[in-house]
Amino acid sequence: MGYDIKDINLAPQGKQRIEWADREMPVLRLIRERFEQEKPLEGIKIVACAHITTETANLARTLQAGGAEATLIASNPLSTQDDVAASLVADWNIPVMAIKGESIETYVSHVRAALDTNPNIIIDDGSDVVATMLKEKPELAKTIIGTTEETTTGIVRLNAMVKAGVLNFPSIAVNDAQTKHFFDNRYGTGQSTLDGIIRATNILLAGKNFVVVGYGWCGKGCAMRARGMGANVIVTEIDPIKAIEAVMDGFRVMPMGEAAKIGDFFVTVTGNRHVIDKEHFEVMKDGAIVANSGHFDLELNLDALKEMSSEVNNRRPFVEEYSKKDGKSVIVLGEGRLINLAAAEGHPASVMDMSFANQALSAEYLVKNQATLDAGVHVLPAEVDQEIASLKLRSLGISIDTLTPDMLEYMSSWETGT
Ligand code: ADE
Repeated sequence: MGYDIKDINLAPQGKQRIEWADREMPVLRLIRERFEQEKPLEGIKIVACAHITTETANLARTLQAGGAEATLIASNPLSTQDDVAASLVADWNIPVMAIKGESIETYVSHVRAALDTNPNIIIDDGSDVVATMLKEKPELAKTIIGTTEETTTGIVRLNAMVKAGVLNFPSIAVNDAQTKHFFDNRYGTGQSTLDGIIRATNILLAGKNFVVVGYGWCGKGCAMRARGMGANVIVTEIDPIKAIEAVMDGFRVMPMGEAAKIGDFFVTVTGNRHVIDKEHFEVMKDGAIVANSGHFDLELNLDALKEMSSEVNNRRPFVEEYSKKDGKSVIVLGEGRLINLAAAEGHPASVMDMSFANQALSAEYLVKNQATLDAGVHVLPAEVDQEIASLKLRSLGISIDTLTPDMLEYMSSWETGT
């Protein structure tokens, strides 16, 4: 088995943490138990490019239980949990190529090595593997059954591939499932982003101006949780509808140029480039803290900040102080990479339970429907979403009502009105 990890001796701690997370992942566990029996992925080679966390380990165990040969690589150079990577190799015989803090060259070499396994399914998080395959090894498309995509940013890239006419296999947009983005993006990003900022800085949030850049599902989660910690939350947006939503959710909304002058904390969750740029760093208060929780590390224009600075000093793990030539400083967390995974442990297991239930069922769906699925971006059928939600509710000991025959009849009739 080819693997590239930090230290195999970290496995015992990794195993303990993987099993701890599994306690909060009852839906994925049920799928794993069924997969053990039915083996729907028998003989299927899967490359999973994901954040190598305790939750991802439980997804990998589930794919393996279904009969798949899974190889794991990191979807971000800073998000790998090295003990988890070690345990997957040592305890489950699952090849992993991922090391926390790996260079971009190593990251890319892992993507290429994973493609060398000639996968039938790619589970992607950000579309780097799919994009690399299309650019460098397009012949692999012949043996690809399909791919799945975990995140908003990756789906934006897949749609660009469709537009360019290059996506020649089916891809399941896992992020678009309701049991994914309503929970993972909102409650997961909300809690884990605040967790990352707090673990990195240990600075009180109460009474501070906390600027959330972007009011998508991730932004909503960050704003909601920052308010819960007592911060004065300011939202910046480019979409007028999301901006009204933020206003009516009770947040102050203003352009970035204004927010930049008064923010104590900034967190970017837009999926776009340079949303905090040179002109914003120029007007920030001394000691303003900036972090990113969007998929890629380009939301903060750190090249511009570097140019404006005379020195950069590490103050704590994942905390760098950029001393600007104007005498003020800006504090950057986690090198501008996903702060929730760089400085904390990513989304808690309970939300990843539903996200990764979607991933496991998407892999099964691709295999079962390979004869009929067209090339392009697909969503899982609504019944699968409903089933995941029902299982989650059941695991929480919560039951809900069902429509009565009278209600059902009313919902399907058009004659009844005023
Ligand atoms: N993305 C965000 N949080 C995550 C986690 N805990 N595991 C895998 N991917 C994630």
